[in-house]
Order: sequence, then structure tokens, then C-alpha cells
Amino acid sequence: MSSTTPLRVAVLVGSTREGRFAPVVVKWLTGHLGQRDDLRADVVDLAETPLPTVLPAFGQDPAPEAVQALALVTPRLAAADAFVFVTPEYNHSFPASLKNAIDWHGVEWHGKPVAFVSYGGLSGGLRAVEQLRVVMAELNAMTIRNTVSFHNAFGAFGADGRVDDPAVDTAAKALLDQLTWWAHALRDAKSARPYAA
Ligand SMILES: Cc1cc2nc3c(=O)[nH]c(=O)nc-3n(C[C@H](O)[C@H](O)[C@H](O)COP(=O)(O)O)c2cc1C
Repeated sequence: MSSTTPLRVAVLVGSTREGRFAPVVVKWLTGHLGQRDDLRADVVDLAETPLPTVLPAFGQDPAPEAVQALALVTPRLAAADAFVFVTPEYNHSFPASLKNAIDWHGVEWHGKPVAFVSYGGLSGGLRAVEQLRVVMAELNAMTIRNTVSFHNAFGAFGADGRVDDPAVDTAAKALLDQLTWWAHALRDAKSARPYAA
């Protein structure tokens, strides 16, 4: 694959809560992604494609209902060159729905970069992000240093979904630039030799 082929970025939406704030943040993020010719976004919304919460026994295939649900998610994660996790903070961590989606998968994460856009109350979801870094290290993913975090998220967006703060746009650009660099580096490396998990 040519290094100029646009990178496929799966945006994984962590919250499945009724009445969730997540779509506001996702719309803002996809606005930024849409401005870039080098990235192609695919929003994987766990509320639209829910995964079962019961994992199969070791060595067993998933139940038929799980296979059906996974068919809507797994190929899209597998096809991604990079990920952005959009996560709120729940009780100083990230939502169970996001952990469930992570745990259903393995090789789909390997050797790929993951960036985080977080939101919440005072902490802006940063505690959720720090915990996700530990989890994703176990899955051979490369987490991106820079984050975009929305503190007191309800007040951060205008009625039109825009964020009236140039520093946030700068942070988003830095995050996507870092993600892009790593995604190219890792995609090129994997095309030279298979990833050794
Ligand atoms: C179960 C639960 C726990 C929460 N815990 C925290 C928390 O520890 N720290 C924080 O800053 N916000 C916390 N919040 C606030 C959420 O981060 C905030 O409401 C956010 O909008 C939730 O994302 P969602 O609406 O997309 O589900 C919590 C919200 C819920 C529902």
C-alpha cells in the first residue's frame, strides 16, 4: 500500500448511555477529521452496534448472536490503520461498554496507534484516558501522547456544536498529526515485515 493512501481511522464511541453527550463530541471530532485529505474516518458507535457482554469460554467460538453483532464491528476495527477513542469518564475510569469492545478483540489492536478524545466533569475524562493507556499497552497498541479533553463538557460546546476556543483546534491538530505520523510509520513497518505480537 502506498504511503500516500489515506489512513483509515476508526472512531470508537465509548458511551452507550441513554441521553449520552457523546454525539456532540463525535460530531466535533469528525468535523476535524473531515478537513483532512490524508484521513478517512469510520465512526464505530457501540450504541448502534452493541456487543454482547458475555465472552466465550477459552478456545470456544462466540455464540451465534455474538457472531452476528461482531460482524458489524470487528471487520471495521481490523481495517483501521489507527483509532480515536472518544471516551467519557465514569467513576474515575472509562465506560464498561468501551472495555467490553476492547476485550472482544485482540489482533485488531496490534501494532496500531490509538488517540484519545475525552470528556467529563472537572477532570475532562483524563483519568479514563490514563487507564486506557494501560489497557491498550497490553494489546500491543501505541497510545498517542497528546489528548483533547473537554472539561465540564456540557458548557464547552455552542448550540451549533462548535468549540469557541482556538486552543482546542490547535490541540486537535496536534493529536491528529501525531496519530497520522504513527499510523504511517506502523503501516509502513508492517508492510515491510509482519507485526510480531
Ligand atoms: C456513571 C457515571 C459516572 C460518572 N463519573 C464521573 C467522574 O468520575 N468524573 C467526571 O468528571 N465525570 C463523571 N461523570 C460525568 C460524565 O463524564 C459526563 O456526564 C459525560 O457527559 C458522560 O458521557 P456520556 O453522556 O456520553 O455518557 C459520570 C457520569 C456517569 C453517568
